[in-house]
Amino acid sequence: MQIIRRVSALRTAVAALKTGDKSIALVPTMGALHAGHLALVAAGKDRADHVVASIFVNPKQFGPNEDLDRYPRRETEDVAALEAAGCAIAWLPDATEMYPPCFVTSIGVGGATTILEGAARPGHFDGVATVVAKLFNQVRPDIALFGEKDYQQLAVVRRMAADLNFGIDIVGVPTVRDPDGLALSSRNVYLSAEQRRQALALPQALHDAAAALRRGASARTALAAASNAIVEGGFDSVDYVALHDAETLAPLETLSTPARLLAAARIGGTRLIDNLAVLPD
Ligand code: PAJ
Repeated sequence: MQIIRRVSALRTAVAALKTGDKSIALVPTMGALHAGHLALVAAGKDRADHVVASIFVNPKQFGPNEDLDRYPRRETEDVAALEAAGCAIAWLPDATEMYPPCFVTSIGVGGATTILEGAARPGHFDGVATVVAKLFNQVRPDIALFGEKDYQQLAVVRRMAADLNFGIDIVGVPTVRDPDGLALSSRNVYLSAEQRRQALALPQALHDAAAALRRGASARTALAAASNAIVEGGFDSVDYVALHDAETLAPLETLSTPARLLAAARIGGTRLIDNLAVLPD
């Protein structure tokens, strides 16, 4: 596996990989890799000849009071994990390589970027869209893989790729969970042992809300019960628990189309998100 830190070297290395019409999959990450990230690499290997994985903790997608400074950074372990997973290239730009001092461009996707995560984290999706567009142009992959764990991000990236004619197939990969049901996240390392136990209230509440909706409960009732259960389970506050159309992300009052339950909640200083598919009968 090649470890590359400069755009110029990346272009040469990717061009060499593409020789003979070989296809490239891109897996963008912010590092502190876990089995969720590695599932994206595995899905990339299944679908393309070579996988390029990027690690870049993107300052533009963090708000002023968020965890940019304490976000876990574990480059040596991450590089070893990517190599073991069979990546061809680890793309590790630093902040100046990604955003030289003269950098001023921002991509605003519009649409569903102002609800849910976008409402709780203003500017977040502009930062995500900007860095993902740059990664797409740097690597020029045939496909790019994103986790359903960040369901709204996946929808925003799909929209951007289509709207801007990137010609890249965006592939969503199901959320990888610990055996007890908690979605794997680089932020889970912030949790104490007790918070880790309490954090289960989040997937559990989504699971129970999905069951209630399938039994015919209104979204209002099911979501209020889920929100209460998350707080009773030990979370300090709930940013949102919501039911949205699985494709357009339009809010739903009843389970009328394939839908997604999405939630964000805070425990200690940690903000966790999760989501679940709910299908009407
Ligand atoms: P990061 O949080 O590192 O996640 C990188 C990719 O891994 C994302 O597509 C995310 O959805 C996926 N992922 C994370 N946890 C997962 C899990 N438990 N199961 C399956 N997939 C999971 O998301 C980002 O980084 C950034 O916003 C990025 C897209 C790299 C742009 O900076």
